[in-house]
Amino acid sequence: MNLGRLMQGKPHADTPGVTIATPRAYELFGDVCFADRRNSAFTRLAELGGAEAADRVLDVGCGTGYLTRHMASLAGPDGAVTGVDPSPPVLDYARRKKQRADSAPCTYQEGIADSLDLPDAAFDTVVTSLMLHHLPE
Ligand SMILES: C[S@@+](CC[C@H](N)C(=O)[O-])C[C@H]1O[C@@H](n2cnc3c(N)ncnc32)[C@H](O)[C@@H]1O
Repeated sequence: MNLGRLMQGKPHADTPGVTIATPRAYELFGDVCFADRRNSAFTRLAELGGAEAADRVLDVGCGTGYLTRHMASLAGPDGAVTGVDPSPPVLDYARRKKQRADSAPCTYQEGIADSLDLPDAAFDTVVTSLMLHHLPE
């Protein structure tokens, strides 16, 4: 049984990237794969992203928003974080997740890495996690 295939969503019209349609299964899969280290791994990854307080941060291929929320903690209440993903179900899930009170507001929008529909120079920091292998070589 291919678990990855079970979580796959419909292809987005504008990208051959493999989307995720089952946010809860993806979250469970992530927790199991990282074996209790998901939070510490993403905390470190977020730190390596280099965002500072009040930054405007973009997370490309944000999925369920796990890294997005970590970036929001770093950017703090004066920052702003945008997550972009081609899959509506993961974006809906991300929008419903609670955020820490002292973190930057997260907003989520449908989009693709191949052609971002965002203004130039709108972000101080751009991050991505576990997304590139969803694109064809
Ligand atoms: C393995 S998930 C990673 C999600 C999240 N970044 C994380 O670390 O949990 C990969 C994500 O890439 C998204 N994706 C697929 N093709 C994409 C594309 N062309 N542009 C942006 N994201 C894409 C999928 O919908 C999926 O949510």
